Amino acid sequence: MDNFDFYSPTYFAFGDGQEKRAGELVRRFGGSRVLIVTGGGSVHRNGAFDAIASSLDEAGILYMELSGVQPNPRSSKVYEGIELCRRENLDFLLAVGGGSAIDTAKAIGVGVPYQGDFWDFFCAKAQPTATLPVATVLTISAAGSEGSNSCVITKDEGMLKWSMNLDLIRPKFSILNPKYTCTLPAYQTASGAVDMMSHICERYFTNTTDVALTDRLCEALLRTIIEAAPRAIADPNDYAARADLMWAGMLAHNNSCGIGRVQDWASHQIEHELSSFYDCAHGAGLAVVTPAWMEYVYRHDITRFAQFAVRVFGCEMNFVNPEATALEGIQRLREFFRSLGMPVTFAEIGAKAEDIPDMVAHRAQKPNGFPFGNFVKIHPDDMTEICRLCCR
Ligand code: NZQ
Ligand code: ZN
Repeated sequence: MDNFDFYSPTYFAFGDGQEKRAGELVRRFGGSRVLIVTGGGSVHRNGAFDAIASSLDEAGILYMELSGVQPNPRSSKVYEGIELCRRENLDFLLAVGGGSAIDTAKAIGVGVPYQGDFWDFFCAKAQPTATLPVATVLTISAAGSEGSNSCVITKDEGMLKWSMNLDLIRPKFSILNPKYTCTLPAYQTASGAVDMMSHICERYFTNTTDVALTDRLCEALLRTIIEAAPRAIADPNDYAARADLMWAGMLAHNNSCGIGRVQDWASHQIEHELSSFYDCAHGAGLAVVTPAWMEYVYRHDITRFAQFAVRVFGCEMNFVNPEATALEGIQRLREFFRSLGMPVTFAEIGAKAEDIPDMVAHRAQKPNGFPFGNFVKIHPDDMTEICRLCCR
């Protein structure tokens, strides 16, 4: 296990009814004039917004709403929010929704006190040193932004889907009521499950040795998601399944599972090109890319892939031919994604083989564009091959 620092200061209020504490928590963390950031309307339809608004009203806290954040959130909405906060002298950001609303709030948070263009933080021109406090009311178990140090925004010009990572932007608090996730369409429930599984796999496939504890944490989370996601899809009101998914999504990405080991993140880097080119759901893109990435790299550490197959999917270890076990695990993962109704090929998300060179070139524009990934270094030719594997 490597040395590590771990700083995860988010205060979590989990469970049914916790949304009633929004006003109290905003006050506790220093807010008095709040910008509520929301998506395309789901939180108005399922009652989450009204519950938060009445809690803020009771606490005498002023609020305004910035609505219309789209999935794969855009820079234009961030500029709008920065402008609004400055004009109205708002001092607190409360995202009500999923990763897209939360990441927009995080980007607004660092943008308001900064004199330059907030995008500087995403193209490594500058590091934020201050932020407005950000908090979340989560309504989809997926991205893990409710506890993470990450923020992913797409710049409208050039459709650059880039990210920023630093502890400063971790939410001050997150309210997690699993009931609000019961209104999710099956496709979004499934995309969320894939995303959280991928967050775990990005950490699990490492070259760091002696990481038994975090391996076991990863495996427990993966097994829990594999059990809970089909139940939540079969019965959207299954509170126990929704609750397991909600906390698993947080643990998958606040880095509890990634400390003390070098992490990979190649599948995410390739997926960000897919959701940039085709505006697909992030989790759906990962369902296509992750098994293909695995097929491309598994020979690098067959033992680790066989361990994944045995411990996560209960495959029988083939001691004579461990490669067969490793491959069986990858196949089981792909079948699981398919069983959730997820796409597993380029064609199924509307991606085209002829766009692969453009995607590779688009990726190269990113600061530190190539190589990326740490388990196996991915160069342009490798990304091309992984994308080709997605076309089968
Ligand atoms: O826009 P609304 O109307 O709210 O509908 C949303 C949206 O269409 C809907 N939804 C959310 N909660 C709902 C609901 N529909 C019905 N009932 C509910 N309770 O779900 C759709 C997807 O929402 P979104 O916020 O985009 O989902 P998600 O949480 O998956 O976030 C995806 C974004 O997060 C980024 C992704 O790249 C993508 O841009 N990520 C952020 C990370 C982070 N900050 O740590 C890490 C991830 O790896 C990821 O890259
Ligand atoms: Zn993700």
